Amino acid sequence: MGYKVAVVGATGNVGRVMLDILAERAFPADEVIAIASRSSQGVEVSYGDKTLKVKALEHVDFSDVDICLMSAGSGVSKEWSPKIAAAGAVVIDNSSQWRYDSDVPLVVPEVNADAVAGFRKKGIIANPNCSTAQLVVALKPLHDKAKITRVVVSTYQSVSGAGKDGMDELDRQTKAVYSLQDIEAKKFPKRIAFNLIPHIDVFMEDGYTKEEWKMVVETKKILDPKIKVVATCVRVPVFISHSESVNIEFENPITVEEARSVLYNAPGCLVIDKREPGGYVTPHEAAGEDATYISRIREDATVENGLAMWVVSDNLRKGAALNAIQIAECLINRNLIQAKKKAA
Ligand SMILES: NC(=O)c1ccc[n+]([C@@H]2O[C@H](COP(=O)([O-])OP(=O)(O)OC[C@H]3O[C@@H](n4cnc5c(N)ncnc54)[C@H](OP(=O)(O)O)[C@@H]3O)[C@@H](O)[C@H]2O)c1
Repeated sequence: MGYKVAVVGATGNVGRVMLDILAERAFPADEVIAIASRSSQGVEVSYGDKTLKVKALEHVDFSDVDICLMSAGSGVSKEWSPKIAAAGAVVIDNSSQWRYDSDVPLVVPEVNADAVAGFRKKGIIANPNCSTAQLVVALKPLHDKAKITRVVVSTYQSVSGAGKDGMDELDRQTKAVYSLQDIEAKKFPKRIAFNLIPHIDVFMEDGYTKEEWKMVVETKKILDPKIKVVATCVRVPVFISHSESVNIEFENPITVEEARSVLYNAPGCLVIDKREPGGYVTPHEAAGEDATYISRIREDATVENGLAMWVVSDNLRKGAALNAIQIAECLINRNLIQAKKKAA
């Protein structure tokens, strides 16, 4: 018997990719329901070669749903995830609402798959921020090899990380530049077309942004609380895929060749690192792909045991939808959930 899977936020950037990936991976679902806000009721979305009619969240009975993939923002998750979990579905949430709750596991399966077992406390599992997901996939094998002590990361984050409104804004502003129209900034605080913005999410008291704070706290929760992380998060005029420039300090020595070798064999990682023009991955090439790509691996000679590298991944896939579905697969493969008996 297969599972009944609900996708909340099915009309959004992440929700649509979730439906694609469920179909691509032949996820063992007997039924998939697409859910969004009342304004999308009746809208059609694709699920493999099928078309699903979107239901309004408040009209859905979750009592026979087994797995709920939530990607409708923190406010919706705060209100609905506990109700959906109380109805007996496991909620895998993409928002930041539950990530820092000690009773909610924060999981990237390549890094801390065992943590999924902790879902029983609240019936919720959190997915990390898109920039954190790809970072920890690349850091984990290096941490196992030489023990990371400190990470300095600068991100180059695509507009799809800000939802469909973010993509629309880059599209609209780019057309406006070419047609000499006024440029209106609604979603982002400044113009994003032919520009970049060193500010994502709200400012905190210490001058860092919440996006930067998330990378610090989430890396510690998923990988190791002892690792020091400092981040600078930047929005760039790219539609899909986030890129990261990463400097890593280790407790133990590690050569570039050793790093390359462990990353070659690491789950979820793909090393493309030829020291020649074009011998690295750009966000355009990573879009639509599942891997976390690692390029430009080199020694950072400014510290005792240091490496620098370039990490790129599709933020809608590994940064959100794919990671959530991998978590669901972990629950199933480890026999942590069973499909409920459905009414005939
Ligand atoms: N984009 C990324 O790279 C990324 C990565 C990691 C995590 N996330 C997180 O994933 C979540 C979704 O992101 P997104 O990029 O997909 O955003 P999005 O493109 O703006 O889509 C938002 C989705 O939420 C739905 N929604 C909004 N209010 C709702 C309500 N009251 N009831 C039910 N559904 C509601 C929307 O439905 P309507 O179309 O009906 O409004 C839409 O389907 C956010 O929490 C985001 O922080 C995103």
